[in-house]
Amino acid sequence: MNNFVFQNPVKLIMGKGMISELNKEIPSDKRVMITFGGGSVKKNGVYDQVKEALKGYDTIEFWGIEPNPSIETLRKAIELGKKEKVDFLLAVGGGSVIDGTKLIAAGLLYDGDAWELVQKRFITSDTVPLGTVLTLPATGSEMNYGGVITRKETKEKYGFMSHFPVFSILDPEVTFSLPPHQIACGIVDTFTHTLEQYMTTTGQSRLMDRWAEGILQTLVEVAPKIKENQHDYQLMADFMLSATMALNGFIAMGVTQDWATHMIGHELTALHGLSHGHTLAIVGPGTMRVLREAKGDKLIQYGERVWNITSGTRDERIDAAIECTEKFFRSVGLTTRLSEENISGETIDEIERRFNEREVAYGENGNVTGAVARQILESCI
Ligand code: NZQ
Ligand code: ZN
Repeated sequence: MNNFVFQNPVKLIMGKGMISELNKEIPSDKRVMITFGGGSVKKNGVYDQVKEALKGYDTIEFWGIEPNPSIETLRKAIELGKKEKVDFLLAVGGGSVIDGTKLIAAGLLYDGDAWELVQKRFITSDTVPLGTVLTLPATGSEMNYGGVITRKETKEKYGFMSHFPVFSILDPEVTFSLPPHQIACGIVDTFTHTLEQYMTTTGQSRLMDRWAEGILQTLVEVAPKIKENQHDYQLMADFMLSATMALNGFIAMGVTQDWATHMIGHELTALHGLSHGHTLAIVGPGTMRVLREAKGDKLIQYGERVWNITSGTRDERIDAAIECTEKFFRSVGLTTRLSEENISGETIDEIERRFNEREVAYGENGNVTGAVARQILESCI
């Protein structure tokens, strides 16, 4: 186990009806800007619950933070927030609204253009406090300090690190209205976050391995049942908490991490608009195929503990573990091949070019360069 420092200050408030607790968490003298996506919260009653809980508060609203939040939209929110002198932010939505609002929180106290903050990668300056009401289990943004912002103009998508939310409210009932595609993407995103921190080498931490495997096993168990009935509170509660626990630092203590799948996936979203989780369903199995030697022992452990693969040669067991993963992603309702999305060699060329130009190399061994990203993508055709 490597040395590490762990601190996660987010107050997690979970359960049926818990949106009504909002007024216990936001000081009543704050001028609050509430941020939303495209309107799903008006149809499923979340908006009404938030407004009811904040009766008597001084609030303004910003609507229209889109999936894969764009700097172009967020600049408008920052302008409005500065004009209105807001001193508390409440993000109500999925990962996109929360990520976007993390940038707004920094942008409100920054004089320059907010894209400069994204380019800094680590925002250490002060930010306006932010609370969240999560409506989509997937990204873990509700309990971490990361965000991912798109620049439409140049078809780029980059992550940044900033400050944690102060609190996050998770009511599993709000997920009942999710479109099946978003549930599928959320399951694959959660699964892949876990793999990014787990599918490296064996023998780093028994405890981290077991926690990660617990999340993976939970997802494998609940996914087919959610497909049958997404109004089952207990199922959605387990899915929701899995998503939060997969990317709040709890399974990352003292272990190496990969993240190559995510970095390649972000390029597919930036260039083709594919949903985030969907890109991972395509790229993730490819990362396993190409890095099967370096990840071999862990693939065997994963195959045995998550998929019950206990016989066969080393190669057969690795093959079976990768196949089970791809089949699982297909079973939740996503395609897993580039050709199924009409994505061709030109995109592979462009992603290799971008990685080379940025001189980046991802993965736990820092060896996923442009050339390796090409191999991964070619294995996903
Ligand atoms: O915009 P509205 O109308 O609200 O609709 C949204 C949106 O169209 C809809 N939705 C959300 N909750 C709903 C609902 N529809 C019905 N009922 C509900 N309860 O779902 C659509 C997708 O929402 P979005 O927020 O874009 O999805 P997600 O939570 O998957 O977030 C994706 C973004 O998060 C980033 C991704 O790159 C992407 O930009 N990520 C953030 C991370 C982080 N902060 O740590 C890590 C992740 O790896 C990821 O990169
Ligand atoms: Zn993700």
